[in-house]
Formats: sequence, structure tokens, C-alpha cells
Amino acid sequence: MFNRDTDRFRTFGRAKGKPLSPAQAGLMKDEFPHFDKGTDISKGVNPFENEPTHDVAGLQGEGELWLEIGFGGAEHLLWQAETNPGATLLGVEPFLNGVAKAVKGITDKGLVNLRLHRGDARDVLALLPDQCLDKVFVLFPDPWHKVRHHKRRIINKTFIEELHRVIKPGGHFRFGSDIIHYVNWSLTRIKNHGGFEWEAQSLADWRIRPDDWPSTRYLEKALREGRSGHFFEFIRK
Ligand SMILES: C[S@@+](CC[C@H](N)C(=O)[O-])C[C@H]1O[C@@H](n2cnc3c(N)ncnc32)[C@H](O)[C@@H]1O
Repeated sequence: MFNRDTDRFRTFGRAKGKPLSPAQAGLMKDEFPHFDKGTDISKGVNPFENEPTHDVAGLQGEGELWLEIGFGGAEHLLWQAETNPGATLLGVEPFLNGVAKAVKGITDKGLVNLRLHRGDARDVLALLPDQCLDKVFVLFPDPWHKVRHHKRRIINKTFIEELHRVIKPGGHFRFGSDIIHYVNWSLTRIKNHGGFEWEAQSLADWRIRPDDWPSTRYLEKALREGRSGHFFEFIRK
């Protein structure tokens, strides 16, 4: 029987926006394959080539391994990679124009600790071994406002179970949203799962954006339109 909460629906809107500029198209052709596969680091777990080798060591290098799901315009992803050179970051995003921005950022900033996959993060999660990630970011996921679209929300029972499986005990899961209904939706599902601790002590802990959580174009637009951000950090038990 089809289960609305757990069976897979498309969770993203457009996979492409306006045509890439010639410079962006050139970067995607020449540089993206370098970050997408064929480098030492991506020969490890290799979500990129659909080979579930489960050898996370090759992917990770020495430091922590972080994953950002749905990085949009890559503002947060690039900031985290630049600010945390000791961590290796994986960024997964189906939207071509966002991936092109990430590629430009990587080449402009000369980042060596960021790997990209253009596609659905659920495919990458499925290839990751248990307890391999130190941090996962799911920031301002598509809200899918209409009730008949709620089934497209990426936060659901199966997704939370997958996150719990791949995050190390003591690892972090950051979630943000500017949509109150989605905040309540997500908190209910995370609480029902029971495998994450929310350590917030006061309103400020989730109403004020932490210093190490940079803003993005999406969030700035939400603020301009009168919505506020909600910022959650959970610890995997
Ligand atoms: C509302 S935007 C927010 C972008 C960014 N996280 C930010 O805060 O600025 C949500 C992003 O999630 C991406 N997304 C949706 N479903 C996804 C999936 N299954 N895997 C990876 N990314 C996904 C969308 O393409 C979109 O870029």
C-alpha cells in the first residue's frame, strides 16, 4: 500500500532555471566533472558514480565529513567550506544554476575541501554507510505549502531515519525554515523519531541566526517579505 509519508515523491521544483551564461556553461563543462567525480576524494564512498563501495575513508580525508542537502545558491555551502578547511563538505543539489554557482565559488576561492553532486540527496544518502557524517545541513527546504503537496516535503519519517542512520552519534543535524507550518511539521517528526536531542534552552537559541550559519539569498528574500528564520540544531543520540 502506498504510504504518503514515506514513499518517494519529487521534493524539488525546477531542475534548471534561466540558461547558463557562456562562462557558467564553460565552468560546468570543464570544472564540474573535477568536483563531481574522478578526484581522489570522490573515489571513496562515491555517491557520484552509484557505486556503493562504502569506503568513506577515501571521501573524507582526515577531518570531519559534512553534508549539505539542497544548497540552493551555495552561499552557505561555500562559506562553510572556506571557514572550515579541516572539514570535507559534500553539497547535493538538483538545480543546475545552483550547482553552477557552487562551481564558480569553488574555482574563485580555490577550495579543495568541497565535493558536489547534482541530483537528489536521497540517492546520495542511500549510498552512504552508517554513522559516517559529522554534520548535516537541511536549510530552508522547499516548503510545499499546499496540503496536497505536503507529501513532497523532504522532511518525512523515512528521511529522518536515513539522517539518523548516516550521522555519527554526537553528530549534528541543522535544520532551518521560514515557514511556521513546516517548522511544526518537522519538529513533530523529529521528536517522534526520538533519535535526536534538541538542546535549545531559550527562544534565542532558535530565533536568532547563529554566527556560524550564514544567510543566503533565499533567507534574505524571506526576511524582506516579512517572514523570520527559525534555526534548529539537533544532536544525534
Ligand atoms: C528553498 S531552497 C533553499 C536553498 C538553500 N538551502 C538556502 O537556504 O538558501 C531549497 C533547495 O532544496 C533543493 N532540493 C529540494 N529537494 C532536494 C533533494 N531531494 N535533494 C537535494 N536538494 C533538494 C531545491 O532544489 C532548492 O534549491
